[in-house]
Amino acid sequence: MRTLRFGIVGCGLMGREFASAVARWCHMLDLDVRPELVALCDANPSIFEWYRANFPSVRLVTDDYRKLLASPEVEAVYCAVPHNLHAEIYVAAIEAGKHLLGEKPFGIDRAANAKILEAIRAHPKVFVRCSSEFPFFPGVQRIVKAALDGRFGTILEVEAGLHHCSDMDPRKPLNWKRVVKFNGEYGCMGDLGMHTLHVPLRLGWLPRDVRAILSKIVTERPDGKGGMAPCETWDNAILFGNAIDPRNGRTFPMTVTAKRISPGDANTWYLNVRGTRASMEFSSRYPKSLRTLDYAPGGAQAWSEEDVNYDAPFKTITGGIFEFGFGDSILQMWAAFCVELVHGPGSVPFGCVTPEETAAQHALFTAALESQKTNSVVCLE
Ligand SMILES: NC(=O)c1ccc[n+]([C@@H]2O[C@H](COP(=O)([O-])OP(=O)(O)OC[C@H]3O[C@@H](n4cnc5c(N)ncnc54)[C@H](O)[C@@H]3O)[C@@H](O)[C@H]2O)c1
Repeated sequence: MRTLRFGIVGCGLMGREFASAVARWCHMLDLDVRPELVALCDANPSIFEWYRANFPSVRLVTDDYRKLLASPEVEAVYCAVPHNLHAEIYVAAIEAGKHLLGEKPFGIDRAANAKILEAIRAHPKVFVRCSSEFPFFPGVQRIVKAALDGRFGTILEVEAGLHHCSDMDPRKPLNWKRVVKFNGEYGCMGDLGMHTLHVPLRLGWLPRDVRAILSKIVTERPDGKGGMAPCETWDNAILFGNAIDPRNGRTFPMTVTAKRISPGDANTWYLNVRGTRASMEFSSRYPKSLRTLDYAPGGAQAWSEEDVNYDAPFKTITGGIFEFGFGDSILQMWAAFCVELVHGPGSVPFGCVTPEETAAQHALFTAALESQKTNSVVCLE
């Protein structure tokens, strides 16, 4: 068993999800690698209490990421900090020779992303990936397999999205995710967009051009100090463009949506693919359902709905008959990262987002900002 000693930089919402996956590693079967949590870094000291109570393996706690990166105890880093810090901390981690799972959007903008990718090129022995967990749901994996098998025939249309509803409440206080300086110009696209693009990009479906409609809906929010503060970021994004199917070079329309103000959607990730021979739909709203329509000319056109088994890329103790959820997808993502780190690129059934895929995401969102500004269709560079 190979133990990978991890440090977390940014111990907030997502830092805790990783730590919890580490604690639940006994859930995984047949893996020859396991993560161990040895170091923590956060600017907020009160956040360490929960970790201290649950992770006796932690040997270093600091508010300075440089100290964590200087520690020979740390082999790999999970970095989950506000977007304005991605380039600085990711580059420092890579230059310190630490393997890295970084959070999306992997740089606050395209220039920041380019700096990270340059550091990766200069340190080829460091394994770097970006976080995105939804594609590890068994229903999504079935769509990926169908695409790789060519089951869809000619692709007619692809729709991918991630929708939240928590910002519907205008009384919700402002946090860093609503401030351009910390979250970036992309707004909701930077928050949610990489999740929607992971599968399309993996299958080679990148829009070649984009018409974006971006909306700012709630313009100010309580600042937590009794006053109001401007809410600067885009709340909702609808991106529409032509993508090319690399299997046959044919063009199809693709819609990518990222919404923070979507009535009733708690964390709804979806992927719909329509083709001449088959169509499939998955939504995390119904996490075990997969809708499929297979069509042969002259035959019936009937959707079927299947309860998908707990049949994830990496084997676990959970029986096939049970349901798969968010925590399971995080665990699977971490299994993909750790196995690929130890056994080399391509050694996993489905891998985490690659640095090149984050760059493709930035190309799309940069073009989307231009499209919104000029009220026009923008070709991707
Ligand atoms: N994969 C997912 O599903 C998912 C979900 C939410 C957020 N995210 C991403 O994760 C990242 C963090 O988001 P979050 O929701 O966990 O945010 P968060 O605000 O809950 O946590 C961020 C943490 O970073 C700490 N921090 C800030 N500046 C720091 C510094 N200089 N050094 C060390 N720590 C510092 C903060 O104190 C905070 O605890 C973002 O990139 C976000 O887009 C991913």
